[in-house]
Amino acid sequence: MGIVRLQGDRPEVLANALWSQKVHRQYGGVMPEVASREHVERIDAILEDALAQAGIQLSEVTAVAATRGPGLVGALLVGLTYGKGLAQGLGVPFYAMHHLEGHIQAAVSEHPDLPFPHLALVVSGGHTHLFKVNAPGQYELVGATRDDAAGEAFDKVARMLGLGYPGGPAISKAAERGDPKGVDLPRPLLGQKGFDFSFSGIKTACLLAVKAGVNPDDLAASFQYRVVESLVQTTKRAAKALSIEHVVVSGGVAANQALRAAFGQSGLKSHFPPMHLNTDNGAMIALAAVKQVLLGEVGTDWEAEAEAYLPLVQPLADGQNRT
Ligand code: KG4
Ligand code: ZN
Repeated sequence: MGIVRLQGDRPEVLANALWSQKVHRQYGGVMPEVASREHVERIDAILEDALAQAGIQLSEVTAVAATRGPGLVGALLVGLTYGKGLAQGLGVPFYAMHHLEGHIQAAVSEHPDLPFPHLALVVSGGHTHLFKVNAPGQYELVGATRDDAAGEAFDKVARMLGLGYPGGPAISKAAERGDPKGVDLPRPLLGQKGFDFSFSGIKTACLLAVKAGVNPDDLAASFQYRVVESLVQTTKRAAKALSIEHVVVSGGVAANQALRAAFGQSGLKSHFPPMHLNTDNGAMIALAAVKQVLLGEVGTDWEAEAEAYLPLVQPLADGQNRT
């Protein structure tokens, strides 16, 4: 749960209280029922935590936001219902926000003067999506993964290597000891004209390599190298084709140092969120709502429902523009 204060038109994160659900580690992933139960049990304490971090009283809160989707419906429902109740009780506006807008705003809010249009690459456990952002809140889908999300591939390869969950940080640690050219892995969608991503081929190649007994650190390094290469090269081609200079990169995988370094050397003007706002957090949802406030919107999302599947951009009739 996050608390953000608006200073003029600049948002400032006052609190970002997290309850890391370590309970999921034993399952090697998130267990939906466990996740929603933990949300119910912890949400009051997390609010207290956030208020204490920010050093404010609940009565000073002037707007409330929650995530409407996409995600695990049980967990979303808890947050959404709690947020609506809080806003009703306080008599303040309520904003139901899109998860991906949260990730994007976590990066954008650090750079309020970012020119439009810019690109936004969201790389998380559930998404690998490249958007063109034409104006605040106006997105066009440029490319997306055709199969696994990048973070999902990190998690699956980590599991193959017995590195535990979440896989991203574990793979990047092992990669520091390995040779990125040590294992020959495929370069997905090499030569395509569009800007889509694909990670299931690399994942399968990793499984075969594990079975063949390659050095695990070399495999981690080679896998990370290929994923980073694919993300950076595709984004670079899209930027060139669309004559765009600036790109914001966010979502859990944006915590990856190799990805940050590669974007830094890509020739693109790349912008990442501060490290504590990469993986899912409440402050990013507050930041997304601040964007609505700055657009002059008074939140009245009382009817919003939790949605497991919720595209940020509505698909085109030909099905190409999918999220
Ligand atoms: O955005 P996020 O917290 O949750 C979703 O919306 O999915 O992203 C979580 C994903 C996980 O797949 C995790 O393995 C990955 O982000 N991740 C990383 C790193 N830290 C987290 N991937 C690569 N390198 C990292 N350092
Ligand atoms: Zn996320």
